[in-house]
Amino acid sequence: MPDMRVRLGEVELPNLVLAASGCAGAGRELAQFIDVARVGALISKSIMAEPRTGNPAPRLAETPSGMLNSVGMQGPGIDAFLQRDLPWLLSRGARVVVSIAGQTIPEYTKLAERLSETAGVTAIEVNLSCPNAEDAGRMFALDPQQAGSVVTAVRGAARYDIPVFAKLSPDVTDLVAVASACVVAGADGLSLINTLLGMAIDPRTMRPALAGTYGGLSGPAIRPVAVRCVWQVREAFPSMPIIGVGGVRTGRDALELLLAGASMIAVGTEIMHDPSACSRVLRELEEELAALSIDRAADVVARAHGRFPRGLAGRV
Ligand SMILES: Cc1cc2nc3c(=O)[nH]c(=O)nc-3n(C[C@H](O)[C@H](O)[C@H](O)COP(=O)(O)O)c2cc1C
Repeated sequence: MPDMRVRLGEVELPNLVLAASGCAGAGRELAQFIDVARVGALISKSIMAEPRTGNPAPRLAETPSGMLNSVGMQGPGIDAFLQRDLPWLLSRGARVVVSIAGQTIPEYTKLAERLSETAGVTAIEVNLSCPNAEDAGRMFALDPQQAGSVVTAVRGAARYDIPVFAKLSPDVTDLVAVASACVVAGADGLSLINTLLGMAIDPRTMRPALAGTYGGLSGPAIRPVAVRCVWQVREAFPSMPIIGVGGVRTGRDALELLLAGASMIAVGTEIMHDPSACSRVLRELEEELAALSIDRAADVVARAHGRFPRGLAGRV
């Protein structure tokens, strides 16, 4: 079987298929179905400084080949996460990428500091799709300067050996400009993509289907957008670690994102249909690569660009 290993900072992941933020909770839910230690890494639901209940219901709506969610930043807050969820995941042998979210830059800084005092954090993923309380609620991810400021703060506060990934939104006209600002600010990697802003209206009630009016679109419907985003950012940054996420349902979908330039992939919405999706996608990806006589997954990374004939093995 092909070598699926990948390095994430100081840690070697056994494989490059991750569970995406928000779709596997804090891991306990998944553990009934799969061995969480066998997932490349689990990216936790974005954690904020304080406990939050999230948005009012209804928070989910089905759409053609996808879904809309307005779950919001529901979560127990950093203290409970560090006391309860992280130790549990580590006791199960999981590798944990902790996603953080804040409404101000000092909040992100505080979260990065707390995580740096803790052992066992494989990486930090900075969710930039959060409303910026100091910019009329506009998402940090929409503005290169704001996105860069968050990354500067987190990179400055995080322990030097914890890689910091910036998770970007596709809802911008110039994604490479936002990615560049994050790279200049010191991001060690990029996660592409978060959900796209969408909306559904219930014809029976003649009102928005979600209590929060808008929601994030995810699932297979957004895969071509994820492929395009990963491609564009890989063109700009040939050596940057990239987690490709968006609409992965099968091993073949994962392969497409690797070919576009992702060095790791994450499975999100599909976990809600099939809680064992991470293991299945890994197995299917191994089969796809074996059928192509590829020995190492890293050898296909960015191959579709034509200028990396041996993939990015050894570079990302
Ligand atoms: C219910 C739900 C909750 C999510 N929560 C988060 C979150 O807390 N932080 C984050 O960065 N992304 C969150 N996401 C976005 C996913 O991590 C992923 O980027 C997106 O859904 C695209 O991947 P997919 O099509 O495989 O789901 C969430 C997605 C869903 C469907």
